[in-house]
Amino acid sequence: MIDRQSHWQNVYATKSDAELSWFQPAPALSLSLFRQLDPRPRSALDVGGGQSPLAGELLALGVQSVTVLDVSQSAIERSKQRLGELARRVHWLESNVLASPSLDKVDLWHDRACFHFLTDGAQVRSYVQLASRTVTPGGHLIIATFGPQGPERCSGLPVQRHDTASLALSFAPAFELVRSAHETHQTPWGKPQEFVYAVLRREQRSQGSRGPSDSQA
Ligand SMILES: C[S@@+](CC[C@H](N)C(=O)[O-])C[C@H]1O[C@@H](n2cnc3c(N)ncnc32)[C@H](O)[C@@H]1O
Repeated sequence: MIDRQSHWQNVYATKSDAELSWFQPAPALSLSLFRQLDPRPRSALDVGGGQSPLAGELLALGVQSVTVLDVSQSAIERSKQRLGELARRVHWLESNVLASPSLDKVDLWHDRACFHFLTDGAQVRSYVQLASRTVTPGGHLIIATFGPQGPERCSGLPVQRHDTASLALSFAPAFELVRSAHETHQTPWGKPQEFVYAVLRREQRSQGSRGPSDSQA
């Protein structure tokens, strides 16, 4: 059993950005997919946000409420320092996404390179249930994982690689696939890594509400 918190605390306490394989100076593809969302999210959660600059970019794009959730306090501290004054506008949550944390509803749930650490069905079900409870009807997920040709491990931990179909299947039926994209990420030391991004939409009806044919009664 992996002690995720100790693992990630240690990673961020001992490695510079240049030593983190997933480091990207700008989350270009995430932002490009964000710009295509309809409706535009007013609130967003970055799950396993790490030291990513995404939170600041989303605030700059007009998202009113931005939350970063990460199991590592040292990742959160690093991200806060990088954002400077802007950090005060972000909600920070040190938490394990698998521990079913209590989360406010959001229009956008973003995850780059955290979901792929979930290697068994129970973990995936717990994650999807939390996302289903948290994302507003009509809201979106952007999930990015290693693709079929990507590495089998990330930060020394085993990962589940995905293609678009397996991502869509993991989140169905609560979410439906809207679009997908591929990216060849270059690690800071120049090694290519295949990523797959899926944009999924939460079904419009909230659970328990009546379907279109019922609503005319
Ligand atoms: C590979 S890094 C990706 C960081 C960031 N999303 C990015 O794209 O730069 C994975 C991140 O997920 C966090 N993480 C891993 N497992 C987690 C879990 N169960 N709950 C919350 N955060 C987790 C780690 O601390 C780390 O910051």
